Amino acid sequence: MKAVTWQGRRNVSVDNVPDPILQEDNDAIIEVTSTAICGSDLHLYEVLGPYMDAGDIIGHEPMGRVVEAGPTSGLAVGDRVVVPFTIACGSCWMCDRRLYSQCEITQVREQGSGARLFGYSRLYGSVPGAQAQYLRVPHADFGPVKVGEELPDHRYLFLSDVLPTAWQAVRYADVQPGETLAVFGLGPIGQMAARIGLHLGARVFGIDPIPERREMASRHGVEVFDHHKDTNDEIRDVTEGRGPDGVVDAVGMEAHGSPIAKAAHTAVGMLPDPLGRTLMEHAGIDRLAALHSSIDLVRRGGTISLSGVYGGQASPLPMLTLFDKQVQLRMGQANVKAWIDDLLPLVEDPSDPLGVDDLVTHRLPIDTAPEAYKMFQEKTDGCIKVVLDPQA
Ligand SMILES: NC(=O)c1ccc[n+]([C@@H]2O[C@H](COP(=O)([O-])OP(=O)(O)OC[C@H]3O[C@@H](n4cnc5c(N)ncnc54)[C@H](O)[C@@H]3O)[C@@H](O)[C@H]2O)c1
Ligand SMILES: [Zn+2]
Ligand SMILES: [Zn+2]
Repeated sequence: MKAVTWQGRRNVSVDNVPDPILQEDNDAIIEVTSTAICGSDLHLYEVLGPYMDAGDIIGHEPMGRVVEAGPTSGLAVGDRVVVPFTIACGSCWMCDRRLYSQCEITQVREQGSGARLFGYSRLYGSVPGAQAQYLRVPHADFGPVKVGEELPDHRYLFLSDVLPTAWQAVRYADVQPGETLAVFGLGPIGQMAARIGLHLGARVFGIDPIPERREMASRHGVEVFDHHKDTNDEIRDVTEGRGPDGVVDAVGMEAHGSPIAKAAHTAVGMLPDPLGRTLMEHAGIDRLAALHSSIDLVRRGGTISLSGVYGGQASPLPMLTLFDKQVQLRMGQANVKAWIDDLLPLVEDPSDPLGVDDLVTHRLPIDTAPEAYKMFQEKTDGCIKVVLDPQA
């Protein structure tokens, strides 16, 4: 089959690799009909290289049709399914608490990491990823979400990651109807977090340096702001000087605006693996620009919710400000299945309350993955969300 593989920093290719096979009774194999590129994939492309092996199949946002079903998978050949990016058993101590991204059966203990993820480096179990024609789905008796036949793929596809991640981000930001929410970053996660904030009754401010991303958000009722040194003052001005009740950081560790860390990131991406890992884990090379802006902006006693991915250990944090402002902080990989019951009716609603029809800017054959990654990273051609078609 064809699959997108990681080859090195800023280097992916489309290769012919062996088809996946059933390994456990509760596995399924799906033929992938749509598979998206995520901001998280850009971290593999850029800074998480020391945790990757050349040839790793990447990708974690798929949907498709079951072509082989293990005897205890609970699925049947022909089922149309969306596959969550977090792999969970559904019945351990953590899963019972709906903390599926911490599943104790699939945790990657040798790396000290949470639940396995599709296509996401040694840190998350080196599970073959989903930017491929076929995907082996472990724990298929719990993960896949069966969906109907009527609606096009893009209505359902974002249940794999973007929508539950954005929903969790807003829930964790703890804003009540009538309160205010700021969202840093208007990539796919920020777009959806902002729209979910509006849907749940908040007033929402969105911040991003890229004009077409601000335009997309403003089409959906978000009050948008460019990213510059006075942005937080502008938002304080419209929140009675206090700052918003909740802030979502949908940027993560590759934020614009921290030049020193940028140099360090570049260095880590280019170092030999063991050295790169040591620097990443102990020297603290996070680019914390968006997190620092969130800490500055949130009102006293408010909540910051990080959905942007962070790595590294030793980055200094403004503890005085965090403590003095009495800030609450929540974060983590999305517990995807915890939010599907809330989201499925919304994506199937003919009135499309979250505007899922307005997110994908590019649907491209899988063979174009190298150009698609470059375009998404460099944000050229108005690119906001790319879906690859593995069967084209
Ligand atoms: N927690 C989870 O489960 C989960 C799941 C999916 C994605 N993520 C993470 O969410 C983040 C966003 O993902 P995405 O797909 O939307 O990616 P993306 O890279 O398209 O979006 C990031 C956006 O942030 C903007 N930005 C950069 N620096 C900024 C700054 N200082 N202030 C404001 N905006 C800034 C960029 O212009 C871009 O539009 C990534 O870190 C990704 O890894 C987390
Ligand atoms: Zn993703
Ligand atoms: Zn579990």
